[in-house]
Amino acid sequence: MPKIAPMKSNQIKISPNGPIFSRIVAGVWKWGAWGWNLNTQQHLTLIKKCLDYGVTTFDHADIYGDYTSEGDFGRALKLEPSLRNKMQIVTKCGIKLITPNRPSHKVKSYDTSKKHILWSVENSLKELNTDYIDLLLIHRPSPLMNADEIAEIFQRLKKEGKVLHFGVSNFTPSQFKLLENRVDLVTNQIELHLMRPKPFFDGTLDLCQRLRTAPMAWSPLTSGKIFKDLDSKPVRRIIAAAGDMLEKYNIELDQLLLAWLLKHPANIIPVLGTAREERIKAAVDALEIDITREEWFTLWEASLGKEVP
Ligand SMILES: NC(=O)c1ccc[n+]([C@@H]2O[C@H](COP(=O)([O-])OP(=O)(O)OC[C@H]3O[C@@H](n4cnc5c(N)ncnc54)[C@H](OP(=O)(O)O)[C@@H]3O)[C@@H](O)[C@H]2O)c1
Repeated sequence: MPKIAPMKSNQIKISPNGPIFSRIVAGVWKWGAWGWNLNTQQHLTLIKKCLDYGVTTFDHADIYGDYTSEGDFGRALKLEPSLRNKMQIVTKCGIKLITPNRPSHKVKSYDTSKKHILWSVENSLKELNTDYIDLLLIHRPSPLMNADEIAEIFQRLKKEGKVLHFGVSNFTPSQFKLLENRVDLVTNQIELHLMRPKPFFDGTLDLCQRLRTAPMAWSPLTSGKIFKDLDSKPVRRIIAAAGDMLEKYNIELDQLLLAWLLKHPANIIPVLGTAREERIKAAVDALEIDITREEWFTLWEASLGKEVP
């Protein structure tokens, strides 16, 4: 008989001093101009569906939709302000995109200066139509990042109540340690899925466990490649290896990919990229799947293309 575990908690305290998030996070980068072009009412409907399913944490960045996604979400929140205290908002800053919406940007670059972070936070607050951000992430490590300067800004934003918690994204373990040495970081949001084994080998997940900071996994479903890239050898191997498990647990491939991540002891938090209600529900249902250790390694072997040494 398949092993159905008691439902994993739908919430998680992401680090010892961190916020409580939903175990599955809704990423909004494709809700607006970069994908689905949902209007304000459709944003509101989707936000409410997520909340109904217990997906209470929403992942933003200033740049999503070429700097328009936070505003889309904020306009939906304005229609029902009472939703704000039922959710947690994550946003990011530090990347400067070249786009007609930011005519002053001449070169794609990173900016982690005091001036830029303070401006970006004020702008995110205004766009999102909120008084506070639950978690602010530095979106990408910059070679010019000054840890003392960032720590000082974080402390100021926290004192002012504008940002409750801080973290980073796409940081190496060494970059994470540099900043974590100055200021409390509650997560590293990284690309993490069955077809991206690097964080398992480069110390990223070890450091997360050591510090008890749950990593947030972006593109947990390979950004959709596993459903489309059917000529790729790793995709073919994973699909072949998954067959028996899909049948045994009566689940879909996207749910198995999530169950594989959720089994890891670092408490990986998947950040979904879909705007489809049924896929959000399927992801929440995946919290009930507890694959065996051997099944985990069967998928790992398929991903790597060889058995473990
Ligand atoms: N920190 C960073 O640097 C960073 C970078 C990138 C992304 N992110 C965050 O991570 C979030 C997720 O990224 P992602 O969109 O790459 O995540 P993802 O969940 O791995 O991929 C979403 C894609 O997979 C497709 N998909 C999902 N289930 C499917 C199924 N059963 N069959 C076919 N296609 C399926 C979706 O299609 P549908 O749209 O049709 O459902 C969508 O195109 C973003 O929203 C953003 O918040 C962060």
